[in-house]
Amino acid sequence: MVRQAGKVAFSHLSRWTSKPLQDLADVVAGLAPGSLNKLYLISGGSEATESALKMARQYYVERDGQSSKYRIISRWNSFHGNTLGSLSMTGDKRRKKYTPLLLNFPHIAPAYCYRCPFGKKPDCCEVDCALDLERCLKMEGPEYVAAFIGEPVGGAACGAIVPHPDYYKIVRQICDHYDILLIDDEVMAGFGRTGSMFAIEAFGVVLDLICAAKGMSAGYSPLGAVIAKEEIYEVFKNGSGVFVHGHTYGGNPLSAAVALSVIDVLQKDKVVENARTVGAHLLAQLQEKLLPFPFVGDVRGKGLLLGVEIVKDKATKEPYPVGKGMAEKITQVLIKHGVIVYPGNLYNALELQKAGLLQGPLLFNLVLGVKGSLPANAKNLFFLLDLLPADAQWSVSVIGPQHVNLSTIAIALGGHVRVGIEDNIYYSKGVLATNVALVDRIVGIARAVGREIAEPGDVGRIWGCA
Ligand SMILES: Cc1ncc(COP(=O)(O)O)c(C=O)c1O
Repeated sequence: MVRQAGKVAFSHLSRWTSKPLQDLADVVAGLAPGSLNKLYLISGGSEATESALKMARQYYVERDGQSSKYRIISRWNSFHGNTLGSLSMTGDKRRKKYTPLLLNFPHIAPAYCYRCPFGKKPDCCEVDCALDLERCLKMEGPEYVAAFIGEPVGGAACGAIVPHPDYYKIVRQICDHYDILLIDDEVMAGFGRTGSMFAIEAFGVVLDLICAAKGMSAGYSPLGAVIAKEEIYEVFKNGSGVFVHGHTYGGNPLSAAVALSVIDVLQKDKVVENARTVGAHLLAQLQEKLLPFPFVGDVRGKGLLLGVEIVKDKATKEPYPVGKGMAEKITQVLIKHGVIVYPGNLYNALELQKAGLLQGPLLFNLVLGVKGSLPANAKNLFFLLDLLPADAQWSVSVIGPQHVNLSTIAIALGGHVRVGIEDNIYYSKGVLATNVALVDRIVGIARAVGREIAEPGDVGRIWGCA
């Protein structure tokens, strides 16, 4: 990022391209499944799904001259973003206050085995939730529908729901039969989090457009992407030649350079394989240790995108009432113990409560005492780390009175640092497990080299900061 900022930090796609952009397009084409090899870059997840929506609409106009196809079908218990188009596709409570402004897009049943909307069990069902797409298409008229969008593994709106293994195969067949595009929203699941580069790979089907964001730049800079099938791109090329869309910061060289470095690290450090093995182990451990509790209804997910569903009554699966704020309470308690979870939520006609979403990459906070000593809750952190396999990678964010510089830590850990920015340290379990004293040592060394005390910013002025 710094290297690129010293060259070209910004150029607008209407006039220029750049080397990082070209290189990134090549790299992503090599990673994406099937003939998905055209890259459209924007600055975040909502922009990605919004762009895919418009791409689907324009695709049919380009292909057929005129087209009545414009509606996008999605599922309840889904999240696709907060802009009006993406919120229209979203199926959760974030829609509620904006309903009059939203596009009239249909929603089908969620692929939610723990609370099957059809009252079935996954091992003996007809995958009715996938067939619900056909029911909806027949009702709405496929001539008005441009695409279906779904998250391959659920995220914020459902706590890591994994659809039935045949779900996407059936959905693919229905989409082909009724001539509608299939959009894969991998904003949360993509770029390795579920143990494959794209979560959809586990379902053995190729979709038409992939939306990506988050993991693609690993948080270092704002970035979103739509990865399109060659055939879709060709229709645009042979038609008007332009996708009538665009944002000023779309395709900027800085974020492209960041994504290139991130993908390089994902590959060199085998981060995706790590998410697969560590995730499988962690899921098994969480199931074994948490499911016996009377308030834990389900533990699910894929790779390091895992969710724990909290219920009031395990036998009836009755959730806690919304007003109780259970997920928020649990989230706060866990933060005190150094574990950051994301409170996902469930939403349907009954408006259910929230479920916690434990999501990778595993990030633990260690808030050091004033003098750099270990906090009282450190033993809980070590307990959690003990659930991980011996070769697991995770990130410990050491927040203390001093910023501990990475090279200092590298010396202290004898080269066990995997990836890091200033106060993010990745190291392997063998090192940390034996190491209550080590952190003290690290801080001691950091002090000795006179690291500056980092002052927190005036967060009170930032809208959206808790
Ligand atoms: C599946 C999915 N799609 C879209 C979005 C929206 O992304 P952004 O917050 O970058 O606009 C999110 C964000 O959490 C998401 O999880």
